[in-house]
Amino acid sequence: MSPTVRLLQFSDPHLLADPRGSLRGVQTLASMQRVLAHASARRLNLDALVCTGDIVNDEPEGYAHFARALAAFGRPVYCVPGNHDDPQQLRSALAAPPFQVGGHADLGAWRIVLVDSCVPGRVGGRVSAAGLAALDAALGASERYAMVFVHHHPVSMGSRWLDAVGIENAEDFLGVLDAHAQVRAVSWGHVHQGFDARRRGVRLLATPSTCVQFLPQAHEFTVDTRPPAYRRLTLQPDGTLETELVWVDTAAGAQGSASGAAAQG
Ligand SMILES: [Fe+2]
Repeated sequence: MSPTVRLLQFSDPHLLADPRGSLRGVQTLASMQRVLAHASARRLNLDALVCTGDIVNDEPEGYAHFARALAAFGRPVYCVPGNHDDPQQLRSALAAPPFQVGGHADLGAWRIVLVDSCVPGRVGGRVSAAGLAALDAALGASERYAMVFVHHHPVSMGSRWLDAVGIENAEDFLGVLDAHAQVRAVSWGHVHQGFDARRRGVRLLATPSTCVQFLPQAHEFTVDTRPPAYRRLTLQPDGTLETELVWVDTAAGAQGSASGAAAQG
């Protein structure tokens, strides 16, 4: 492995049991495959991929589609569960390499930490006491630079409905990060939109979905017309990182905007 670590983060594919199944007019499996094919065609020389949850949309049969599509990459695929996942089924479907659900991985000068923020039966997130302790231990046991991946957002997205379904104990989560100076970035999914900010020297990133997006800054649930996307991350041996959000234009993008009670991130 070169000293520079190259990652591809993608999120919220929301796969269904039916491989042709669609959400809001988007065939989720085909859409994820187009995103991955786009990245593949760019020959990014990736060290690993990271998927930040909502791998399926409440239909665990979708994990088989995910496993098949990702195995072809020949790279580790690090995953965290989302609120639409079934954590137990996810872990058993993706139990063997190239997949890893939760825990941490060391790549070059960096440690990647995967945090579970899901609470069974709930849209919003919380990092359990055990999860906080595991995060603290993973960060404390290594002097590598660290990047943390989690499903739910730990800061306000400036959007009333989304801010009600982030990590409810975000202060505890951020407190653990604050205790470890080598943490350089946190990146999440769930919000189906891009985000890039900074807090106490730590880069805060959100990665859009590989299918349907949500309109940023909207106070009620609103579907956005932006296309699927993925995030490229380049982690340098000196602890700096570069990132790029890549929108993958496709004829099968979200149709118009809509609001309603089905807002589930
Ligand atoms: Fe989602």
